[in-house]
Amino acid sequence: MDDLRQLLRGIEVFAGDLPGFDPGATPDTPGELFADWLLGALDAGVREPHAMTLSTAGADGNPQARTLILKAVTAEGWQFASDGGSVKAGDLAARPYAALTFYWSALARQVRVRGPVTAASAEASAADFRARGEDARAEALLGRQSQPLADLAERDAAVREARARLAADPDAVAPGWTLHTVRPESVEFWQGDKARRHTRLTYRRTADGWHKQLLWP
Ligand SMILES: Cc1cc2nc3c(=O)[nH]c(=O)nc-3n(C[C@H](O)[C@H](O)[C@H](O)COP(=O)(O)O)c2cc1C
Repeated sequence: MDDLRQLLRGIEVFAGDLPGFDPGATPDTPGELFADWLLGALDAGVREPHAMTLSTAGADGNPQARTLILKAVTAEGWQFASDGGSVKAGDLAARPYAALTFYWSALARQVRVRGPVTAASAEASAADFRARGEDARAEALLGRQSQPLADLAERDAAVREARARLAADPDAVAPGWTLHTVRPESVEFWQGDKARRHTRLTYRRTADGWHKQLLWP
């Protein structure tokens, strides 16, 4: 464990050439800046820049976090989709509020989104489901997300069954598949700096629109 401690201490952070960030030259809305940073991450070769941590709290108030794929950023907010029987779905039913965190290490950039969560209509959720690739639809048809699995052979048999079902009915939709939208109350953009002069800019929603504020690092 001491070796691991030494190893962790020795890992370089905020290495390489990092982009600049001028908070004075930012757009009026966080969605625009987010799109700009996402495209920058793609250009920099960040793999899966649309992967994010979704944090929720259950009825007991205890947090849980997991990685999800961002589906879209619309005028309403940041969207993700998941199984209606999952832990996160249960959490969101009890406390419809979430935080999303993106980290693009090649750029030393972090984005944090917080806000209330709403579930999309059955039609919009079904459209999201049908836009998934074949493997992803078969996997989602399995249902029972996060429930105990006896062995991997049981999973493989269920995947074969789901693929056969999709072949017979390409429009099949997993019951409970739900598209969710986080309507941001705040979005924070964090630009890391090798010399630790990090820059933080937060957008807060107000009655008059978005208010921008610098934060101490
Ligand atoms: C890169 C990556 C992307 C993922 N994308 C999704 C996703 O879009 N939707 C989803 O339900 N789970 C996704 N998962 C799986 C979740 O992290 C998680 O294991 C699953 O949703 C069960 O979470 P829960 O038990 O907290 O509900 C992804 C995992 C990884 C590593």
